[in-house]
Amino acid sequence: MVAAPPEHPTPARVVVLVSGSGTNLQALLDAVAERGPAYGVQIVAVGADRPGIEGLRRAERAGLPTFVHRVRDYDERPDWDLALAESVAAFDPELVVSAGFMKIVGADFLAKFGGRFVNTHPALLPSFPGAHGVRDALAHGVKVTGCTVHFVDDGVDSGPIIAQEPVEVLPGDDEATLHERIKDAERRLLVEVVGRLARDGYRIEGRKVLIP
Ligand code: GRF
Repeated sequence: MVAAPPEHPTPARVVVLVSGSGTNLQALLDAVAERGPAYGVQIVAVGADRPGIEGLRRAERAGLPTFVHRVRDYDERPDWDLALAESVAAFDPELVVSAGFMKIVGADFLAKFGGRFVNTHPALLPSFPGAHGVRDALAHGVKVTGCTVHFVDDGVDSGPIIAQEPVEVLPGDDEATLHERIKDAERRLLVEVVGRLARDGYRIEGRKVLIP
């Protein structure tokens, strides 16, 4: 009797990093809960750079282990980076997802997770990188902005782009209204991209990301 191949291979282990409200994390948690093994993802832990945020409470409500590393608790930034990398590595993830994680990781983290560390950014990169992408796009007067899911490299929001979605700027938009509309698109795009990377695998060739 030859065992039938599993209908769904073991879901990919994913660690998610957050710094704030965690609505992108919640979208991933909901996708795992609603789609089950067919989605191909299991979130195994959630990490943050600060305590007491809603993103960590969302993880706790989902019964997930969490960890926090505050930069100011370390003498040197590389010590923080290594501690974060070791906490993530302890969960043996295949993918790490920055879902609103507001710190730039360093050499140790990228040595371990470069090429499998994904970030979502609320602008159409390479336009408006950095911590104020929505504000900067609005100030520039763009008519269309959007969100980008990309692999993290050693720059700021500069890694190979996986997917993007446009979002129109509406008359009367302020940073909050525009960002919330972008986050609607982000949450859908991140859930789709993380699922595809987990299920189908991918190749990174220079600046191009190929998903079969
Ligand atoms: C997202 O728009 C993300 O792109 C940006 O910060 C926001 C985080 O939102 N870096 P949330 O914490 O997932 O609700």
